[in-house]
Order: sequence, then C-alpha cells, then structure tokens
Amino acid sequence: MAQTYKKKGSTSESVIQDTETATESVEAQPTKSTIGVSVIIPTFNERENISTVITQCLKELPSGLFDAEVIVVDDDSNDYTWQYPTRLFGHDPRVRVIRRQTADKGLARSVADGFEAASNEYCAVIDADLQHPPEKLSELFTALDDGADIAIGSRHIDDGGIENWPLWRKVVSKGATLCARVALPSGREVSDPMSGFFAVRRSVIEGVELDPQGYKILLEILGKGTYETVTEVPYVFQERERGESKLTADEYQNFLEHLGQLSVVDRDLDTVVTPQRAVRGGEFAFVGTVGTVVNMAVFAALTAGLDVFFFAAGIVAFLAAVNWNFAGNWLLTYDRPEGNRLQQYARFHIVSVVGFLVYSSTLTVAAFAGIPLLVSNFLAIIAGSGVNFFGSEKSVFPTTRPTDRNAADPNTSAGAN
Ligand code: GDD
Ligand code: MN
Repeated sequence: MAQTYKKKGSTSESVIQDTETATESVEAQPTKSTIGVSVIIPTFNERENISTVITQCLKELPSGLFDAEVIVVDDDSNDYTWQYPTRLFGHDPRVRVIRRQTADKGLARSVADGFEAASNEYCAVIDADLQHPPEKLSELFTALDDGADIAIGSRHIDDGGIENWPLWRKVVSKGATLCARVALPSGREVSDPMSGFFAVRRSVIEGVELDPQGYKILLEILGKGTYETVTEVPYVFQERERGESKLTADEYQNFLEHLGQLSVVDRDLDTVVTPQRAVRGGEFAFVGTVGTVVNMAVFAALTAGLDVFFFAAGIVAFLAAVNWNFAGNWLLTYDRPEGNRLQQYARFHIVSVVGFLVYSSTLTVAAFAGIPLLVSNFLAIIAGSGVNFFGSEKSVFPTTRPTDRNAADPNTSAGAN
C-alpha cells in the first residue's frame, strides 16, 4: 500500500494517508492521455545488465499509457557499457545514452546530468543492476500524475523489503537512514530517504543547484527541492545477480559529509556559512575534542606516572595534541590535501601556538573582567579554536576547493555538472 504525506510547513497540514495503489488507478482510467516520462539509468560497468534493464523498463511503460524515454548515463565505463544501448536499441528513438568523459565522475552527478537531458516533466531514477524492480516504475509515475511531487520507492513500508542482505549492510543502512532523519528535518517523514529508486517532477528541482556529492541524490532533492506532496511506493530491493556493487568505504565518509552540508542548507544556515566550511568546522571540532583527550592523557602520564614538572609536561602534552590534530585534520577534515606536507606541518604548529596565545590572553582578560572563571575558560577555548580553524583554512590548507560553494548562491558555483 502506497503512503502519501505533505511536507511540514506546506499549506496543507501534515498528514499521512494510505492511497490506493497506482496500478489500480491506471486501470481505473484507461482513457487518460499518455504520460510523458523519462527514466534515468546511471551506469558504471553494467554491460551484463544494461540491455535487460532497458528492455524491462520499456516493457513496463507500455506505449498506450506512457510516452517513455530511457536515458542511460554512463561514466565512461571500462567495460564499454555505453556502447551497448546504441548497439541494441540504435533504431529506437526512446533510448538515449550520455557518455560522461569528465573527471567529475559519480553516481549522483550522473543522475543530475540525466535530469538535465530529460525531455519530460516526470523523471525516474532506477539502478541498472535490476536491484530495483522496473515493474514499479508505472506506479511511481502514476503517483506523480495523481498529484505527488516526489514518488519514492521505499524498502521500509509495508510490502517493501530487502532480499538477502547481510546483517552488516542492514545495520549500516539503518544507521545511515537514522543520520539522515536527524540531519534533515524536511526528510523526516520519508521512511526511505536513502532510496536510489524514485520519480520526481522536474519542477521540484527547477532552479535548484544540485550539488550531489557521492551517492545520495534523493537526499539532495528532499533537502533543497520545492515540493509539497511525497508518496512512497513499496518495493523489494533484489539481490544483485551480475556485475559488482560500486559502494566503497569512502562513500560512507562522503555520505556523512554530504548529510552535514544538507542539514546546513535545510536549516537555512547557508546564508551565514558555506555548507562545506560548516562541515569542515564540525570535523575540526571533532578532531580537536579528541585532541584534548590526547593532551590530558599525556599530561596525566607525565605528571602522575613519571613525575615530570607540570610546566614541561604541559608543553609536551600540547605538542602531542597538536600532532594529533594535524594528522586528524589532514586525513579527515581536509581529506589528504595536496601541497607540501612539511610546510603544512610547520604552519599548523605556528597556527596552534597563535591559537594558544589567543586562548590564554582571552582567559586572562575575561577573568580580570570579572566573568566567572568557567565561562571565561569556555570563551577562551572558543576564541583559541576559532583562530586555529581559520588559520588552518586560510594558511595551512588553503588548497582551492572546487566543490566549495554557497548553495544559496549559484553564482559562486565552480561549475557543477
Ligand atoms: N554513472 C555512474 N557513475 N553510475 C554509477 C556510479 C558512477 O560512479 N557508481 C554506481 N553507478 C550505478 C551502477 O552501475 C548502478 O546502476 C547504480 O549506479 C547503483 O550502483 P550499485 O553499485 O549497484 O549500488 P548499490 O547496490 O550498492 O546501492 C544501491 O543501494 C542504495 C540503497 O542502499 C543503489 O541503488 C543506491 O542508489 C541506493 O541508494
Ligand atoms: Mn546495486
């Protein structure tokens, strides 16, 4: 049974209601004029699946009811996936291929290109590997035609599910869904915001700059799109029979960073700070918090264990934390930045010392000004860490960041495609 709800804050009240299944409504209105639909299939090394999935999509969208086109968006696969559709369906104007020969590869970016190329208002995205059932496409499109702005194939409502997933993947998927719910208020009612199988009216994303990092373009749409009504249609995620999954460990970090950025946009904070910088700030704070623990542990070991004079212990502990922070920020916050590493290392030390001076002078001034000591210390920590962060941004790791852009201002875009 499909489920529909209205976005919070839309003119209508937030309601969850069951709707009749779309197949029933198709049958109920056989005389309705045909619906123009575009099916986007992102591919990377799917030569074993591509022709089957195209054939099935066309079959499930019969010409009496739908005026369908299929757009394969291939990231210049090594296995020449992009050649197959033209070879097999070359005569068929309903099938198109976009071969992306850019450095800017990626699933979500490919899907964004597919939306741009689509000639219909109703667009769906479906995986090539038959893990998403093409027979549910008509239901997704009919949901749009019945008034939904977004129709999502969901594994987490009645009649939906996942076939044969190992426990670890279920746990990861649940954890990711939970993170998405926390980060994105506007996607909260959606049971499967991580779905890669969905249909959307193009008007929902019109004028919205999609900056799809990594895998999850639906999150991007839920976070930035203009829409009111979302319908979820249940489906069972099948096992992959041929070819390999492209989901790698790096995608998890990408995903969490992407979520952080979207949560900034979703809360309209992107006028204050770019979403990318906000996420780096969060990662910097995380590394620094652990760095404080490192500092305390080294300090305790030296003073209590080895009986070192506290001042000397303080200096060693400080340096230990600086080294920890450098490694953590180099790896996590700035994601293995280019540039001379020795120079970065030296500059990070200088910035940290300046941060420390700002910390101690703020503490002194605040304490003498009569501000309670704990509050003074807190203010001093904020001031010191702020200097550390901006010093890192501006002078330690100033590498140009092509993905940095203010989501509220498309003019600052570095040319997403
Ligand atoms: N163009 C392009 N570029 N396509 C890609 C890329 C890429 O870099 N990486 C993967 N694809 C294509 C694959 O060829 C496939 O058609 C589809 O995107 C999904 O990739 P899989 O590697 O099969 O993903 P998965 O099975 O691990 O993940 C699926 O489950 C997620 C839900 O947990 C996908 O369906 C996701 O969309 C979905 O969110
Ligand atoms: Mn797959």
